[in-house]
Amino acid sequence: MGTMTEFVKVIYGDKEFQLPLIVGTEGEKAIDISKLRQETGLITLDTGYANTGSCTSSITFMDGEKGILRYRGIPVEQLAENSSFIETAYLLINKRLPARQELTEFSVLLNDNSLVHEDMRDFFENFPRSSHPMGILSSMVNALRSFYPELHNPGEEINITVTRLLSKLRTLAAMSYKISRGHRVVYPRPDLTYGANFLNMMFDSPVRPYDLDEDVVNALNIFWILHADHEQNCSTSAVRMVGSARVTLYAAISAGIAALWGPLHGGANQAVIEMLSDIAANKNMKRAIERAKDKNDPFRLMGFGHRVYKTFDPRMKIMKKMCDTLLDKLKISDPLLDVAIELEQIALKDDYFIDHNLYPNVDFYSGIVMRAIGIPTNMFTVMFAIGRLPGWIAQWKESQDDPNWKLCRPRQIYTGPTETNYVPIGKR
Ligand code: ACO
Repeated sequence: MGTMTEFVKVIYGDKEFQLPLIVGTEGEKAIDISKLRQETGLITLDTGYANTGSCTSSITFMDGEKGILRYRGIPVEQLAENSSFIETAYLLINKRLPARQELTEFSVLLNDNSLVHEDMRDFFENFPRSSHPMGILSSMVNALRSFYPELHNPGEEINITVTRLLSKLRTLAAMSYKISRGHRVVYPRPDLTYGANFLNMMFDSPVRPYDLDEDVVNALNIFWILHADHEQNCSTSAVRMVGSARVTLYAAISAGIAALWGPLHGGANQAVIEMLSDIAANKNMKRAIERAKDKNDPFRLMGFGHRVYKTFDPRMKIMKKMCDTLLDKLKISDPLLDVAIELEQIALKDDYFIDHNLYPNVDFYSGIVMRAIGIPTNMFTVMFAIGRLPGWIAQWKESQDDPNWKLCRPRQIYTGPTETNYVPIGKR
């Protein structure tokens, strides 16, 4: 963050106020309004927070106009090409890339913590079979505190909680899937890497052993790296906001999972596949585009548009390339990919989408990658949650360590009735 040498003038009534200008390391500017109400009696109103910075952060930089995304300064393209998900998680949480020895130790710790308390397994095996895996996952993460009570040393407590979450979320995710299908859960194996272990826990079965494929493991690795953090999005803000009440990290992450579930956020990857399947089955692409453009119709092209990106989402470009390579290697031809490519081409030439800066986002092709890996549609958002976990943890840690951190408590402009007398029930 730069020095606060410039000010912004606010004129209200016959008074002039000077508000400090904050400049980030990439030159983004903000008006510091932390003393605005105290000095002027005014608050700001910004529904959806599109113009509001909720914090300063050194984790992720994104430029929505230029299509840039970097974690701790490193372009996501470089990480997707060279890093592993575990190494990227380390980078986000510990602020730097690990040395070889540190990475090995981190992997061993994750492996040691991968099992889930047997009582917890029994408890969740009784969840209704039709439950959505995101609902099960959010409940399970919150329940972790009950099964793993707090340690007395605060430093140790944080480190072990972070490790537990990173390792167990993957186990819980696979468990939630097995439970939702009424199948017996598969235990993690110490000889497998993080991603390979997840795939094995998802797909191995007593009647059909699972064959691990390096290309599939790599694709999953890249998928998770691309989702690892995205600065102050809806679920991350939920983690920070809930965390600001000083709840446990488990409770804050559980809130993040609940927020991610929504179709306008992480749930979009599932919604994209449902939309593409509908278009493929009913051959109604033209109608879908017309509906998306109709102001009176709530239908939107899922996987299009983004609050911050007003150009191509850089993650989408990597995802699309990976999608082509994976399908090619696995010799899969997915009719939904043809629909997606055609829809993208039509939308990108359409004035409505051009004028509204609507480009495909990361979710547009991620569902097709997930299908190729064999992930069922209702698990797509769970895959996103595993990927986003390191980001949530890094953001939560940063907020807890911030000396200026406060309980998150926005204000409002009240528009209801002014003082009104209570009317007894007999006189209404
Ligand atoms: N299809 C059609 N029109 C759209 C779409 C879309 N996908 N997205 C936005 N618009 C239109 C809106 O109707 C609005 O039009 P108007 O100004 O003429 O009324 C305009 O574009 C701006 O839309 P807002 O909703 O105000 O923009 P916002 O920044 O709030 O929306 C969002 C971002 C929620 C992602 C939106 O683009 C959307 O709903 N997309 C589809 C869902 C999706 O793909 N979500 C995943 C996002 S990425 C992620 O979370 C990982």
